[in-house]
Amino acid sequence: MVVEHTVETLRAVAEPTRLRLLALLAAGGELSVSELVRVLGQSQPRLSRHLKILTKAGLLERFSEGSWAFYRVAQSGPASESVRSILSLLPQDDATAATDRSHLDEIKSARVKAAQDYFQRNASEWDRMAQLNVNEDAVAFAAEKLLPLGGVEQLLDIGTGTGRMLEMFAPKVTHATGIDLNAEMLHVARANMDKAGITNVSIRQADIYTLPFDSDSLGAITCHQVLHFLDRPQAAVAEAARTLKPGGYMLVADLAPHGVEDLRENHAHLRLGFEDKEVKSWFASAGLRSQATVHLKGNPLSVTLWLAQKDQITKQMK
Ligand SMILES: C[S@@+](CC[C@H](N)C(=O)[O-])C[C@H]1O[C@@H](n2cnc3c(N)ncnc32)[C@H](O)[C@@H]1O
Repeated sequence: MVVEHTVETLRAVAEPTRLRLLALLAAGGELSVSELVRVLGQSQPRLSRHLKILTKAGLLERFSEGSWAFYRVAQSGPASESVRSILSLLPQDDATAATDRSHLDEIKSARVKAAQDYFQRNASEWDRMAQLNVNEDAVAFAAEKLLPLGGVEQLLDIGTGTGRMLEMFAPKVTHATGIDLNAEMLHVARANMDKAGITNVSIRQADIYTLPFDSDSLGAITCHQVLHFLDRPQAAVAEAARTLKPGGYMLVADLAPHGVEDLRENHAHLRLGFEDKEVKSWFASAGLRSQATVHLKGNPLSVTLWLAQKDQITKQMK
C-alpha cells in the first residue's frame, strides 16, 4: 500500500542521525561504514543500526567488498525520488550538514592520498608499462571512436583498475559499473571518480569469471589491458558475453603478440599478447560477432582493439 510505504519511509528518516546519513550519502556517493563512522563520530554498532533501517526502507543500497560494507542512496525508482524530496526540505545553510560535509571532504582527501601512496608503491610497474606501451591517449581516442554507446543504459568495465575506462565512458551512458578483484585498485578508482565529479558509477569488487549481473542485462562491456593477466581469458570473454543484451557491444583492448619476457617474469603477465584470430575465435564461441579490429603500433608493445556485438535472438519458426 502506498500510504503504508510512505509512512515507513518517513519513519525511517525521522531521526537526526539518519537524516544526516542520507544527506551525506547523497553528496558523497559510495561510502563505507568506517568512513561514515569517522564523519559522524558515532559508534559503528549505532550507525549500522541506522543504516539498516534506511536500507530496509529502500532509501539506501548496501553492497560488500571483502569484509567492508558500502552504502549509497537508492539510484532509481520511487525511492530515489523520495530521497530527493526529503533532502530538499533541509535548509541549505544547516550548520550540522555543513560540518558533516567538511568532514566528508577530509575523508575524500584521505582517499586521494591513499591512492597516490598506492601508485607510489607500484610506480616501477606503471613506469615500465608506460615506457613500452602505445600512447594511452591514442588508445583512448580509438576506443571512444569504436564503441557505439547510443541508448546504452548499463555499461560494465571488467578489471576496471583505476577506472580509466569508466571516466571516459560513464558520461555517455545512464549508469556505469566497474568491477575488479583488487580492493586497493577499487579505492583508487573511487578516488578518481570523486575527483572527476562522476556520480553515475558503481565500483564493485567482483571476479571477472563470475560477474554479479543477470544474463542479457548490459548494453556494453569494456575490458582494457586485463586479459593478459588471466589464466582463462576465453572464459572471461564468455562470461562477459553472457551478461550482454542481444545487440550489446563488447570492446577488448589488449597487447598484440610481443616478446617482452620481462613482463611475464616481473610484472605478472601470463600471456605475451594475443593474435586477432585467437580473440575472434573466443568471440565466436561466446555468441559474439566480430565487428571491427584496430591495430595501434607501438615499440615494442602494440595494442589491438577488438569490437564485437552479441547476436540478436532469432525466434525459432515452427
Ligand atoms: C593492468 S590493470 C588494467 C586496469 C584498467 N582496465 C586500465 O586499463 O587502466 C588489470 C586489472 O585487472 C584486474 N584483474 C585481474 N584479474 C581479475 C579478475 N579475475 N577479476 C577481476 N579483476 C581482475 C587487476 O586487479 C587489475 O586492476
